[in-house]
Amino acid sequence: KKVAIIMGGYSSEYEISLKSGNVVYQFLDKTKFNGYRIHIFKEKWVYVDDDTIEYPIDKNDFSVTVNGSKITFDVIFNAIHGTPGEDGLMQAYFELLEIPQSSCDYYQAALTFNKRDLLSVLKPYGIKTATSYYLNFGDEIHVDEILKTIGLPCFVKPNKSGSSFGISKVKSKDEFLPAIATAYKEDNEIIIESFLDGTEVSVGVINYRGAITVLPITEIVSENDFFDYEAKYLGKSQEITPARISPAMAEKVSAVAKKAYEVLKMSGFSRSEFIIVNDEPHMLEMNTIPGLTTESLIPQQAAAAGISLTDLFTNALELALK
Ligand code: DAL
Ligand code: MG
Repeated sequence: KKVAIIMGGYSSEYEISLKSGNVVYQFLDKTKFNGYRIHIFKEKWVYVDDDTIEYPIDKNDFSVTVNGSKITFDVIFNAIHGTPGEDGLMQAYFELLEIPQSSCDYYQAALTFNKRDLLSVLKPYGIKTATSYYLNFGDEIHVDEILKTIGLPCFVKPNKSGSSFGISKVKSKDEFLPAIATAYKEDNEIIIESFLDGTEVSVGVINYRGAITVLPITEIVSENDFFDYEAKYLGKSQEITPARISPAMAEKVSAVAKKAYEVLKMSGFSRSEFIIVNDEPHMLEMNTIPGLTTESLIPQQAAAAGISLTDLFTNALELALK
């Protein structure tokens, strides 16, 4: 089968996505799949061959013509973090073209990529979150009122982005407006959240061979103020799988992550982040195109579960093709 591995994207996460996509390409089961690396950038959609020669993609049917012969794809492996790969745009496009894909459907992608909307949909199911406040670009900012509700320290985040781009931990009032400006560089919506003082864990939930499966939980101990870009990708954190939490707590947080997957009618990959405060997991977000780089968490969690990367990718593609 011919697999288009889509990578890149239009957001700050494009470099992480290229790394994720290359890991997928490297570990694809070559006896079952023929991988094609497709770069999706605003300026160009291209197939890049092993000699880094680029061939333009025909957006009418997502085909590419190489030396006079037209190639179409049997299945898509989506490795684009952020827009347009994680927010439903590519998913909707491939649904229209009727090309099967590894990720969840467009609606689940759009919903989960919006932190505010995700958390408000999950709230009635008893899933706890930080106290939050939401701003749209251009809204008047009532600093004192916001800080009275949210408290300090607090987090200022772009509502729709990943890899911690644009996120600040705000410790004093004078840091607040600069943090807002930083977040608006990534998105036109902002979410301000109260600081949750607890144990941070990351929970992968995937459909593995037909069963919704929770991978071993990772505990995150950041050397920085929080699990920021440097902590995520430049070694400034300890990532401990399985997490050093009690079996009862592991079960509790697994159950919450699995419930979120189920009620959202998710498919494909997911990795949800929680802070456990006073024995209660509080959800921060869910990633539907989680990083697959050598620094990323899903590969570590899969390894801890005894699932090789090749098996993980084959599983995702075979499910998509079903
Ligand atoms: N957004 C990054 C890639 C992650 O969730 O792993
Ligand atoms: Mg994220």
